[in-house]
Amino acid sequence: MRGALFLFFLVPLQKIINDTSQLDMIERIQQLMAEVAALKADSAEEAEALRIKYLSKKGEITSLMNDFRNVPSELKKEVGMKINELKNAATEKINALKEAVSIQQVAGPSIDLTRTPYPIPLGSRHPLTIVKNEIVDIFSRLGFTLAEGPEVEDDWHVYSSMNFADDHPARDMQDTFFVESHPDIILRSHTSSVQARVMESTQPPIRVICPGRVYRNEAISARAHCFFHQVEGLYIDKNVSFTDLKQVLLLFAQEMFGNDTKIRLRPSYFPFTEPSAEMDISCHLCGGKGCSFCKHTGWVEILGCGMVDPAVLEANGIDSSVYTGYAFGMGIERITNLKYQVKDLRMFSENDTRFLEEFVSAY
Ligand code: DAH
Repeated sequence: MRGALFLFFLVPLQKIINDTSQLDMIERIQQLMAEVAALKADSAEEAEALRIKYLSKKGEITSLMNDFRNVPSELKKEVGMKINELKNAATEKINALKEAVSIQQVAGPSIDLTRTPYPIPLGSRHPLTIVKNEIVDIFSRLGFTLAEGPEVEDDWHVYSSMNFADDHPARDMQDTFFVESHPDIILRSHTSSVQARVMESTQPPIRVICPGRVYRNEAISARAHCFFHQVEGLYIDKNVSFTDLKQVLLLFAQEMFGNDTKIRLRPSYFPFTEPSAEMDISCHLCGGKGCSFCKHTGWVEILGCGMVDPAVLEANGIDSSVYTGYAFGMGIERITNLKYQVKDLRMFSENDTRFLEEFVSAY
C-alpha cells in the first residue's frame, strides 16, 4: 500500500520532470539559435574556437543531441527537427565566418573592399618654395637662367672676392658660422657668393638668378633666424646701366605685387656694388597711403641692389674696362611676409601642418 502510494506520487512527478526538461531543451535550442545568429569572429583562430564550442564532440549542440534520447517519443520528431535546424544553422554560420576571415587575411584587416573611394588629401608646397618659384619664374621670363652654389663655402667666395675688407664686421663670429677645424670654411651668409662662382666659370654675357639658403649667427626670434633664404640676381654685359637695373626691378615688383606697384630707390652701401641702393615698393596693403604695416610711410623695403663694383669683376676674372653689370639680392622670407602677412619667421621652419595647409591652393 505504501509502495502504491509512492508510485501514485512518483508518476506525475516523473511527468513534471520530463515536461520541464523538454521545456528546457526547446528553450535551450532557441537560445542557441539566437546565439549562433549573432556569432562573430575576427580571425581564423576565433572561428575555429566557435566550431569547437558548438559543434565538436563535446560541443554544446552535440551534447544537446546526446540528450535527445531522453525526449519522449511523441516529441522526438519536433525536437529532432529543431536540433537539426540548429546544427545546420551553426555549421553554415561558422563556415561563413571562416571564409570571411580568410578573405580578410588575404586583403589585410584594414581594407574594406565595399567602401566607396575617397580623395586622398594632397600635401602643399611650402610657402617659401611657392614664392621662390614665382620669383624665379618672373626673372626667367626676362631671360635669366638658374644658377646655384654650395651652402658650405670658403671665405673667398663669400667675402674676399665680393670686395669685403679683411676687417669688415660681416666676417665677425657674431654674423658668420665657421667650421671650427677649418677657419676658412663657413656657412654662406648670403647668396652673393654664387655671383663669384658664376663669374669665375663663365665669361659675359651673364644673366643669372640664384635662389638658396643662407646662414647667420643670430638668436632665433619672430624677426630673425639663424637660417633663411635669398635670391640673388646678376647681369653682366657690355653697356649695362643703372637704368636697366631700375627697369627690370620695376617689372619684377609689378609682376609680384600688382601693376599699380611703384618702386623707390634709396642710396645705400654694399661692398660689392657701386653705386648701391635699397629698393622700396609702395605698400600694397594701403596702396601707399600709410598704414601700420608700412609704419605709416607708404613704402616697404624689399631688396638691395647696385652696379657690380669693378673690383668684384676684376677679382673674378672679368675685364671691367669692357663689361659692366648690375646685381640685386632679396630675402624670400621678406617677400613671403609681404605677400601673405606671416608675422613670425619661426613659422617657416616649424612645419606645423595647420600653417602649411593654408597654402594648398597658392600655386
Ligand atoms: N648680399 C646682400 C645681403 O645679404 C644682399 C644684396 C644687396 C645682394 C645688394 C646684391 C646686391 O646682389 O647688389 O644683405
